[in-house]
Amino acid sequence: MATHPGKLHYESTSKDYRLYLGDSLEVLRRVPAETVDLVFADPPYFLSNGGMTCSSGKMVSVHKGKWDASNGIEKDFKFQAKWLRECQRVLKPNGSIFVCGTRHNIFSVGFAMQSMGYKLLNDIVWYKRNPPPNLACRYFTHTSETLLWAARDEKAKWTFNYQLMKRLNGGKQMKSLWNILPPGKSEKMQGRHPTQKPIELLERVVVSASNPGDLILDPFCGSGTTGLAATRLGRRFVGIELDPEYADLATRRHLADHLDANSAYRSDVDYVAAQVGLQ
Ligand SMILES: C[S@@+](CC[C@H](N)C(=O)[O-])C[C@H]1O[C@@H](n2cnc3c(N)ncnc32)[C@H](O)[C@@H]1O
Repeated sequence: MATHPGKLHYESTSKDYRLYLGDSLEVLRRVPAETVDLVFADPPYFLSNGGMTCSSGKMVSVHKGKWDASNGIEKDFKFQAKWLRECQRVLKPNGSIFVCGTRHNIFSVGFAMQSMGYKLLNDIVWYKRNPPPNLACRYFTHTSETLLWAARDEKAKWTFNYQLMKRLNGGKQMKSLWNILPPGKSEKMQGRHPTQKPIELLERVVVSASNPGDLILDPFCGSGTTGLAATRLGRRFVGIELDPEYADLATRRHLADHLDANSAYRSDVDYVAAQVGLQ
């Protein structure tokens, strides 16, 4: 795939949603320092290296795309460290970042974050309760991903909407184990992305660690789930995506969401929005 130097792909009429097409290493360099309140990043896992998995009962290759092929531990680490450094530069002093990953990349990401002075706040387990079976029968069945949550540095006074989280959890403290189903058909009506995250996961990230009006950045925006959660909840959004097909998908999802006030999962959002006083 040809790389793109980075250009504005789509901007909403109200300018609260901007999507750049390009390599996030290049685009991030042009984002002014200390302008972003919250980063959500779902970077390459570097796991598409010829393995097999089970999908709808069939054995299929784990090939998410060229972007997900490993270049070896050291080069993969350098890549993670580069974009994490840029995110630290663009975060406001009290900003924070969530990074989602699996055993293939999360230790490399975590080591890079510790090395550059991020303050690690939580390692959240996203528990996917209906995983496909493990075909090799030589491992435990993979059923989770990790979200590392970190403040920009040791001095940061990061946002955590503790009371709201407690309310959304039926009056009990919200724990770091998040039981959330992968996205269903209703979230894939505009097209498919191999690693699309559920809107519920991103809504929890957004409402827990930002406030209405805040600016949220996703440097690996994929199908645009972060942008949907951000704008639905009254935040501003900047996304970066390398692949034009996925940038188009993210654009379609944003447009459809704003045209269709009765979209299939609108009621969950209305509930969360009511909790944050947006209705
Ligand atoms: C794990 S997926 C993100 C999925 C996303 N969270 C969602 O809900 O759809 C990673 C995405 O990053 C994109 N990507 C990979 N390398 C990139 C780079 N250097 N710059 C920008 N985007 C990149 C891939 O095309 C892919 O869509």
